[in-house]
Order: sequence, then structure tokens, then C-alpha cells
Amino acid sequence: MKTNMRAALAGLATGTAMLAGMMSQAHAEDIKVGMLLPYSGVYAALGQDIDDAFALGLETFGADAGATFDIIREDDEVKPPVGLAKTKKLILQDEVDVMVGIVSSGVLGAIRDTVDGAGVPLIVANAGNDEATGEACSPYITRVSFSNHQVNTPMGQWMVGQGVKKVFTIAPDYAAGRQMIDAFTAAFTAAGGEVVGQEWPAFQKTQDFGPFLANAKASGADAVYVFFAGGEAISFVKQYDSFGLKADMPLYGSGFLTSSLYVNAEGPAAEGVITALHYVPTLDNPENAAFVAAFKEKTGRIPSEYAVHGYDAARALVEAVKSGATDRDTLAAALPKVAFTGPRGDLRIDPATNNIVQPIHVYETVAGPDGLTQKVLATLPAVADPVNGCQMPSVN
Ligand code: BEZ
Repeated sequence: MKTNMRAALAGLATGTAMLAGMMSQAHAEDIKVGMLLPYSGVYAALGQDIDDAFALGLETFGADAGATFDIIREDDEVKPPVGLAKTKKLILQDEVDVMVGIVSSGVLGAIRDTVDGAGVPLIVANAGNDEATGEACSPYITRVSFSNHQVNTPMGQWMVGQGVKKVFTIAPDYAAGRQMIDAFTAAFTAAGGEVVGQEWPAFQKTQDFGPFLANAKASGADAVYVFFAGGEAISFVKQYDSFGLKADMPLYGSGFLTSSLYVNAEGPAAEGVITALHYVPTLDNPENAAFVAAFKEKTGRIPSEYAVHGYDAARALVEAVKSGATDRDTLAAALPKVAFTGPRGDLRIDPATNNIVQPIHVYETVAGPDGLTQKVLATLPAVADPVNGCQMPSVN
């Protein structure tokens, strides 16, 4: 009898342990993440910053997510056809549950139909292509970075308010350059300013900006407004200064021009340049202080706007998983609903477009004790991007 009782209790204990094991196994999802970034080419440093901060975000927030995250990395080389081929590989061969990354608006435009058609959720961690959250929006695309329109529109109004009346614009000739300058131009002219000339140097091919700077100088503009990022931003800012333009024609732009990622490579040429962006590492809030310290500890660098996109993309993914999402459809449905307070403040996604809602900071690059730093001049309130033709279908 005693023996039978012991056996019964032992059996019960084994069954309970098995059940607990099964329950914890049922909760321990393996989420395959397809990370598509430029690890080579003119935006390679941007891609690495996003990747490093994504890893930090998973370390910081993912420990109790009840899931493991396997990252499969692919290099899009900042080339739309390469990005498309790598997307197909990640979706069809690797069978990823979610894609993260995309720096170039050109690459985002090239892969949009494929992720939408395959029903694979994509967390955009940089590319600002307006169409992806406008007329080509998709329930599978959620953007935690910015839109090209969002970053540049407030600066058009702000500059007119500062007394700048005539501007010459320069930007690389691809989707991001065109959209950023179009958004700035629309806001600047609506506020009473005049764009007196525009140049569109070939993207990834222009080494010498001299001919474009000569045209800007001859235009009679009060100032120059530009978009450049990565290696092109470093070359442009240095050449603008050595051309002798900075004193007579102040340089303005979207804040990628003087990103904290490479502003010290631009050196004194960047001092006094005024730009606008959705994140600068000098934002004064506790979440940003923690992020800056942790990122510095991990990489030895100050985090940039690219880093904050990677960090928030990881947190958005973790929050979606914590809310119960386990596969492509449930992740796609959960991602636009995430909301949290991060280094940029309160983060939320506009359900009408799946684009992030956030304020924009106008900042001047100034000399600080440890190199160049960002002095915020104005913070322009958070507004949702216009719907811009987006008719958001629900996830099937
Ligand atoms: C873009 O192509 O959307 C982009 C690239 C670098 C910085 C900002 C935007």
C-alpha cells in the first residue's frame, strides 16, 4: 500500500514536472529575425549602429520575453536590387518571422511589395520613404524611425520664422533626397520663403560637390538647405566649409547631415550648422540617460539617431512578443499597437499609417568638452504624418 502510494505520488510529480516543462516550452518561442542592413557601401556605419543598438535593445528588454531571438543578417549594400534579392532569401529560404532594418528609402521602395505580398512583418529602423506609410502603406510595415516628410516639414516653417527668406537646396538624387527636399520646399514656400535653385548630385557617385556649391554661391540665396547622410554628409560638410561658403550662406538641413555618428569626422566644418531631427543624444530624460550610458559601455560610442531606431525596434519586437504574438500575422497585428517611453520620450505608432508620432528638435552643432555636440534650439511638437493616400487594410 505504502509502495503504491509512493509510486502514485512519484507519477504525479513526474506528470506535473512534464506539464510545467511543456508549458514553459510552449511559451519559449524561437523568433527568427531577418536583419537587412547596409553592412557595406556609403551607409555601412549607419547599418552597424542600428545593429549594435538592436542587440543592446534585446539584451535590455528581451530577457523576460519568453522567447529567443535568432538574427539572420544580410547586407543590402545600399542597392535596391540587392536588397530585394536578400529579402526574398530571408523570406523564402530562411523563413523568418519578422524583418528588421532598411536604411535607404530606395531599398524600402524595392522590397515593399515583397514583404506585403508574403505577409511578413517589417519593422523599419531607418528608411524614411514617405510612400511606405503613405499611398503604399501596408499592415505588415511598421516604422519606428521617421518619415522623410516628418523630419523636414517643421524646418521649413521654423527657418522662415528665423528670417531666412531665400534658400538653395542640394540633395542626392534618389527617393530620400527628393522627398526630404520636396517636404522642406512645400513648408518653406507655404510660410512665405522662396527656393531660388536646386541641385541633385548623383547618389553614391559624387565625390566633388564644387560645381553644385558654385551654383549655390551664385544664386543669391540667404542660406543652403540640404540632405546628406553617412560618408556623403562628411564630404559635403567639409567641402562646404573649405569652399568658404559657411560665413556668408549658413548651412541648414535635416539632422542626418551632422549626426553624432560622424560629426567628429566632419570636425570644425560642422560647427554652427543648424539641422532638425527626431533624436539627439543630448535629450534630457532618464530613459535617454540610461540608453546613452549602456550604448557607450557596449560600443564606446555616443548613440546616434540610427542607434535609437535599432534600440526601439528591438523593444517594439519584444513588446509585441510579450503581448502574445508568436508568428508573422500576430506580430504584424501587434507591432503597430506597441507604445512605451524610450530615449525619444513617449513612442506610439499612428494606426492610420503605421508611422511613428514624435516631436522634432532643431539643433545646432557646437563645440563641447569632449568634441562636437548638439545644442537643442527648439522642439517642434509631435504631429502624425498626413495619411497621404494610405488606406490601411487589416492583417488577414
Ligand atoms: C533614407 O534613404 O531614407 C535615409 C538614409 C540615410 C539617412 C536618412 C534617410
